[in-house]
Amino acid sequence: MTANSNPSRYEPFFRPFEGAGLRLRNRIAMAPMTRRKAPDDRVPEESIAAYYERRARHGVGLIITEGTHIDDEHAPDSENVPGIFTDAQQEGWIRVVEAVHRADSAIVMQLWHTGRHAMDPIAPSALPAPKHDGGFKPTPRAMSEHDMLAVRDHFAEGAARAKAAGFDGVEIHGAHGYILDSFLSETSNQRTDSYGGSFENRMRYPLQVVRAVRDAVGAGYPVLYRFSQWKSEDYQAVTFPDPDTLGVWVNALQETGVDMLHVSTRDAVEPAFDGPSPTLAGLSRSLSGLPTIAVGRVSVSTSMNQGERVHVTDPAPAADLIRNGEVDLIAVGRSLISNPDWCEKVRAGRWRELIPYERAHLAELQ
Ligand SMILES: Cc1cc2nc3c(=O)[nH]c(=O)nc-3n(C[C@H](O)[C@H](O)[C@H](O)COP(=O)(O)O)c2cc1C
Repeated sequence: MTANSNPSRYEPFFRPFEGAGLRLRNRIAMAPMTRRKAPDDRVPEESIAAYYERRARHGVGLIITEGTHIDDEHAPDSENVPGIFTDAQQEGWIRVVEAVHRADSAIVMQLWHTGRHAMDPIAPSALPAPKHDGGFKPTPRAMSEHDMLAVRDHFAEGAARAKAAGFDGVEIHGAHGYILDSFLSETSNQRTDSYGGSFENRMRYPLQVVRAVRDAVGAGYPVLYRFSQWKSEDYQAVTFPDPDTLGVWVNALQETGVDMLHVSTRDAVEPAFDGPSPTLAGLSRSLSGLPTIAVGRVSVSTSMNQGERVHVTDPAPAADLIRNGEVDLIAVGRSLISNPDWCEKVRAGRWRELIPYERAHLAELQ
């Protein structure tokens, strides 16, 4: 017999949310997670619709799709990631959206270009991404102005297609060392033109992409932006060295047309900076005034890609972030892969019954 926790500790997760153009029945979002289950034409199939619908039916308020490629040129880092650049892909996504809507959840599409991690990599500068084994990925081609316009337009076209497919919003993937983040970071951006050098210059291209996406979807359509300190090639990376730099960034996003921030941290409750500091998500919210999603290590014992054994932990500290008004939504990643019924178990205080995450669950597509 396992002891249940008092359900009132988790009540903040289940408060309705209205803001950023979204109306959600609760504060739980499914974090975007790549599974590489699409066929070769990158058209999402029924199994993908069923996978998201299952999480929706069990109570997730907002589904954020797996990263979805915006072109077939330099965006993909692998085969079998779904796309949003052909009519057939757009049609396929309509079925996913309808399934999630039938289950009373909202769904936004994450738009993804992998930049220097791509199979045919392009990046602000010809600097290869380090690999975790000490080696390097292939050296990317430094982007010309023509490349930058093309990628910008592909983000905008993907956003327009997502809107046409019925998505409730789009999330621009600006995190984890991929193309937009690689412009922001001085380790990957060593350009000498107006897109490199100062932080203001390094922000310029990501903001141009935001503006193009906003123009493509029009006013009033939810645009989310995901960013991070960490990069897939460096978990200790620091793009925002202090709260002032973070403030410049999140206010620029707000002014350029972003409605909601999705601040990707590896531990949602960790302070952003040394000393007494709110979380990176909490600080981003208070500096920008934008509704904000926090994520990382909710109900799992390790950060992403850390350690072999993942135990189940109490999600109450994440609920407290909402209770304290620090963030608006909490995104759950790995634990929602292993537990489509996460919301039901946690709402009842039965988090100890959650199934520990294993990488193998990803392949099972349940
Ligand atoms: C298998 C897997 C795939 C992921 N794919 C993406 C992705 O496509 N886009 C993205 O922004 N983050 C991606 N992430 C990061 C997650 O969205 C999330 O931020 C991270 O797993 C931390 O949350 P968790 O500790 O609850 O798992 C992925 C994580 C995992 C485990």
